[in-house]
Amino acid sequence: MSRLDEFGPGERRIVEAGRRSIGVFRVGDRFYALNNHCPHQGGPLCLGRVAPWLRSAAPGDYRVDDEDALLACPWHGWEYDLATGQSFLGPGEAPVRTYGVSVGGREPGPYVAETFPVHVEDAWVVVDTATRGEGSA
Ligand code: FES
Repeated sequence: MSRLDEFGPGERRIVEAGRRSIGVFRVGDRFYALNNHCPHQGGPLCLGRVAPWLRSAAPGDYRVDDEDALLACPWHGWEYDLATGQSFLGPGEAPVRTYGVSVGGREPGPYVAETFPVHVEDAWVVVDTATRGEGSA
């Protein structure tokens, strides 16, 4: 647990819960918690870079979505949706570099990082390791 007034937007904490290492992230006023173990090869996922989603409705038209964020593993850069733990890279990706333009969403990969619900009790940020979560405000 961390005190809410000591856990500002854009910050993260790595906490230990039994044998688990869990990353807790604050993006704006939302909180997310993910298992600090990358499903790809076990890298310290929660030490990676957090970036907002970039959404596009058409070529040349894009906007930064500050409501949702992606977490990139520091070992090989696989990205995971902070809210769902869903990856967007994996064995289904083409092995040859390609260039293309995508309009709309990205195809989800086969791996999903374990996530946990986070809630605020009084002035405390609490991670619930008994159930899975998709972020919390
Ligand atoms: S171990 Fe995380 S991307 Fe490879």
